[in-house]
Amino acid sequence: MARRRQLYEGKAKILFEGPEPGTLVQYFKDDATAGNGAKKGTITGKGVLNNRISEYLMTRLAEIGIPTHFIRRLNMREQLIREVEIIPLEVVVRNVAAGSLATRLGITEGQRLPRSIIEYYYKNDQLNDPMVAEEHITCFGWAATQDLDDMVALTLRVNDFLCGLFLGVGITLVDFKLEFGRLWENEEMRIVLADEISPDNCRLWDTKTGEKMDKDRFRRDLGKVEEGYQEVARRLGILPEAGPRDMSGPEVMQ
Ligand code: TMP
Repeated sequence: MARRRQLYEGKAKILFEGPEPGTLVQYFKDDATAGNGAKKGTITGKGVLNNRISEYLMTRLAEIGIPTHFIRRLNMREQLIREVEIIPLEVVVRNVAAGSLATRLGITEGQRLPRSIIEYYYKNDQLNDPMVAEEHITCFGWAATQDLDDMVALTLRVNDFLCGLFLGVGITLVDFKLEFGRLWENEEMRIVLADEISPDNCRLWDTKTGEKMDKDRFRRDLGKVEEGYQEVARRLGILPEAGPRDMSGPEVMQ
């Protein structure tokens, strides 16, 4: 395959120039970080699994009318996506108290919230992605009120759908993070779901045992990290056929 120009390298993914204008190739790495890069490691096969899991979830969401940047999976570690202007916000949805919510407010982890909560974080590594309010977002122009309304409406639909989808395979969707982008088509702008949806940015607990099947296994040194990601893929019926021993995937081309 022809060598492609690398446009951006993040903590878990690399973006390459796509084959056509307006497209990009998103490459999923095995690298894992936590605490904004304070903890670094590798989760063997994670990139392959996240590529599959994100493809699956984005495809299911597109089927119910959620616009996404996803076009198609290209190979074990790469997917073709639409180039969007990323809105510099992380939109976190919480259904069950865990992580920073539990720590910050002293709430017992595992307590189901009376209703889902949406939080916003400003994407800025130097500032450690601080939590922000709608007022900050519109005041500093990161997103307009209409953009935010669209993002909230999409987020709530994504949450409803994914809660049901995961519950069907015995997994509780505790919380997750979404990112959105602006897609320009002719003179029209649409807000679309971007980035990825995978165990890197969701908390997924076994509904019966409470066992964690997500990146918290890495963040909290719980062991069996790869197995957690594999179990999510297995339950969704999308574990790569070759199995975990054959998931190193193609080399990154720069
Ligand atoms: P938190 O409890 O650490 O705030 O995380 C809430 C959810 O958001 C959890 O599912 C992990 C996800 N998340 C990310 O994907 N990226 C991040 O940078 C952070 C802080 C959280």
